[in-house]
Amino acid sequence: MILVTGGAGYIGSHTCVELLNAGKEIVVLDNFANSSRKSLERVLQISRKPFAVVEGDIRDQAVLEKTLKDFGCTAVIHFAGLKSVLESVNSPLDYYDNNVIGSHRLLRAMQTSGVKRMIFSSSATVYGDPKFLPYTEDHPLNPVNPYGRTKLIVEEMLRDLSASDPTWSIGILRYFNPIGAHESGLIGEDPKGVPNNLLPFVAQVAVGRRERLNIWGNDYDTADGTGVRDYIHVVDLAQGHVAALKSLEQTGCFALNLGTGRGNSVLEVVKAFEQASGKPIPYDMRPRRSGDIASCYAATDRATRYLGGWRATRDIETMCRDHWRWQSQNPNGYAG
Ligand code: NAD
Ligand code: UFG
Repeated sequence: MILVTGGAGYIGSHTCVELLNAGKEIVVLDNFANSSRKSLERVLQISRKPFAVVEGDIRDQAVLEKTLKDFGCTAVIHFAGLKSVLESVNSPLDYYDNNVIGSHRLLRAMQTSGVKRMIFSSSATVYGDPKFLPYTEDHPLNPVNPYGRTKLIVEEMLRDLSASDPTWSIGILRYFNPIGAHESGLIGEDPKGVPNNLLPFVAQVAVGRRERLNIWGNDYDTADGTGVRDYIHVVDLAQGHVAALKSLEQTGCFALNLGTGRGNSVLEVVKAFEQASGKPIPYDMRPRRSGDIASCYAATDRATRYLGGWRATRDIETMCRDHWRWQSQNPNGYAG
C-alpha cells in the first residue's frame, strides 16, 4: 500500500491513475487546499479501481501515523505542498510551514511507523541560475526564491536522514515544467485565480476565459528571444514515479531530473497550442518577468539509467493536444 500525499493535485492525480493502472494499492491524503475531490472521482472513473482517501494535513503527525498504520503503508509518494513562486515571495512563512514543517512531520511519522521508502517532489528550481546547461544532477544548488529554498531544505533533510540511517530508500525527483493532461480529458491542471504558468494561461486564452497572453521578454539570448523551458507531459512524469518506486527496492538516496532534455521557447509553445486547438492566441510582448532565466533544460541520462529505461516520450504537440482536450472539455476546470 502506497500513501500518496497531495494525490488530488495536478501531478498527484495523474500519478494515482498510473499507480492504479500498474496494479498498486493506494491511499490518498490531501487537505484539498489547492484541489478538488472531483479530481479523485475522475481518477476512479479512468482507472475503475477503488482506492482510499483521507482528508488530512501533512502537518498533523497523528493523522499521518494513523493512516500509515491503518492502511499498512510500505512507501510514500510525497506531492503535498504549496508551489507558487510568487506566493512564496509574498508569504514565505506559509511556504516554510507547509513544505518544510509538513515534510518534517511526515518523515517523523514514517520513522515512528517504520516506513522508510519515500519519493519526494522536488523541482528544477533548486538549481537556480544555470552555470551550465543542460542541468545535470551535480549542478550547484542555489535556488533564488523561497519556494525553491523550501524544496532544497527538504532535499537536504532527506540526504541527512539517509546518511544517518542507511535502511531508508529515498528518491528525489526534480521536475522540469509539467504540462498536458490525461488523454481522456477527465483530469488536468486547474489553477485557482489568474495562472502564473504559461500553459494554463495559454489554454484559458484559447477557451475564451482570458483575452491575451503576456509574453514576458523577447530579448533573451535564445533563438527567438523568448524564454526556453523543458516541458514534460504530466503522464510521462507520472510514469516516472511508477518507475522510481521500483528503484526504492534498493536503499540509499538518489536525486534525478525528470524532463525531456529538450527546450521549447514561449513562441514555439504558443504556435503548437494554436495548431492543437485551432484557436488563435493573441499576445503582447512585455518586459522580462523578474526572477526568470533565459533557458532551462535537463540532462536526462541519469534518470533513464536509474529508472530502468524510463524516458519521456510525448512531444510538445501531444502535450498541447492533451492540455487542450482537458481545457475544452472543462472550461472552468473541476468547478464545472
Ligand atoms: P497541486 O497544488 O496541484 O497539488 C498539490 C496537492 O497537495 C494539492 O492537492 C493540495 O491540496 C495538497 N496539499 C497542499 N498542502 C497540503 C497539506 N499541508 N496537507 C495535505 N495536502 C496538501 O501541485 P502539483 O503541480 O500537482 O505539484 C505537486 C508537487 O510537485 C508539489 O510539491 C510541487 O511543489 C511539486 N512541483 C510541481 C511543479 C509544477 O510545475 N507543477 C514543478 C516542480 C515541482
Ligand atoms: N511566460 C510568459 N507568460 C506567462 C507565463 C509564463 O511569457 O503568462 C513565460 C515565462 O517567462 C517563461 C516560460 O513562459 O519563459 C515558462 O514560465 P512558467 O511560469 O510556466 O514556468 P517557470 O519555468 O517560470 O517555472 C515553473 C514552475 C516553478 C518550477 C519551474 C521549474 O512555476 O515552480 O517551472 O520546474 F520551479
